[in-house]
Amino acid sequence: MTIRSLITGTGHYLPERIVENAWFEDKLDTSDEWIRTRTGIERRHFAAEGQTTSDLAIRAARVALDRASLRADDIDGIVLATSTPDFTFPAVATMVQQGLGITRGFAYDVQAVCAGFVFALANADAMLRAGLARRILVIGAETFSRIMDWTDRSTCVLFGDGAGAVVLEAQEGAGTRDDRGILASDLNSDGRYRDLLHVDGGVSSTGTAGHLRMQGNLVFRHAVEKLARTAHDALDKAGLTPDDVDWLVPHQANMRIITATAQKMQLPMDKVVLTVADHGNTSAASIPLALAVADAEGRFKPGQVIVTEAIGGGLSWGSVVLRW
Ligand code: UT7
Repeated sequence: MTIRSLITGTGHYLPERIVENAWFEDKLDTSDEWIRTRTGIERRHFAAEGQTTSDLAIRAARVALDRASLRADDIDGIVLATSTPDFTFPAVATMVQQGLGITRGFAYDVQAVCAGFVFALANADAMLRAGLARRILVIGAETFSRIMDWTDRSTCVLFGDGAGAVVLEAQEGAGTRDDRGILASDLNSDGRYRDLLHVDGGVSSTGTAGHLRMQGNLVFRHAVEKLARTAHDALDKAGLTPDDVDWLVPHQANMRIITATAQKMQLPMDKVVLTVADHGNTSAASIPLALAVADAEGRFKPGQVIVTEAIGGGLSWGSVVLRW
């Protein structure tokens, strides 16, 4: 017998304010047509003034708990991925803990930018398998609108705000690839590429929050090369091949990257969960948002193989393979 980490509930929250591509047209030298054709993004949600990352995360977590038929105090720990915390410290996860009324267990943040949720999921899985907890809330939550340079058309049209959450529960498995739950993970970082996608401020450097800077076309090339490879590596560790995959739930940064990755994995696009048109790039929130949206639509069936993959600042990238 072995311990497997099973997703037993998903939830998401998107701020009420929806901003269509056309909103940028009178502010910048850009067009709905450029944004749509180069990225696949049509609209994104922006948090209201005063609405913080923890506010979004708490709402998503409540839905996930509800869908797992659990109460808040059934949770042993919270692992939250974000690069846009409410404050430098404490961790957003502790604010979620308080918001949910939980007073026991651990709560901490993981920072791997757009790959954050994949890292957090792998991290929570390792903790469950090590016996450190039995039920962990894993959350991706971001307010990237707070770190946009609104004069930079090459970045500010790409990102949005939102949160997604999953309840990850330890269950017994046979230790084979036929088990339900997380079967394998593959995580990578390479700090040589940190300048390609970074924020130009921070606590111990400028003392400011800073703005997002990206050399988009270079990140694009790394993404196309690295995402299919990390998905293959995770599948390989799980003893599976792309032929076994029922669903690809990719980081939702750019439709062209998603299509190229699916092509490299020889997956038809009807096996790919797509939310990029409506959410834009929500960084660490994008995969749990996509998981929760597809789950709410009843698209995943028990026993199906799901592959997630993401790349972001660091560069950091990775993949988690699970059986629903
Ligand atoms: O989530 C973390 C990971 N991030 C990503 O995966 C993002 C990866 N990168 C991308 O998605 C794409 O590189 C972008 C969508 C950011 C840009 O698309 P691209 O096809 O790589 O365009 P580019 O950066 O090579 O720029 C092409 C042209 C440039 O003009 P010139 O130099 O050819 O005259 C840009 O200035 O498009 C111009 N451009 C724009 N034009 C209209 C850049 N942004 C815009 C814009 N509207 N918003």
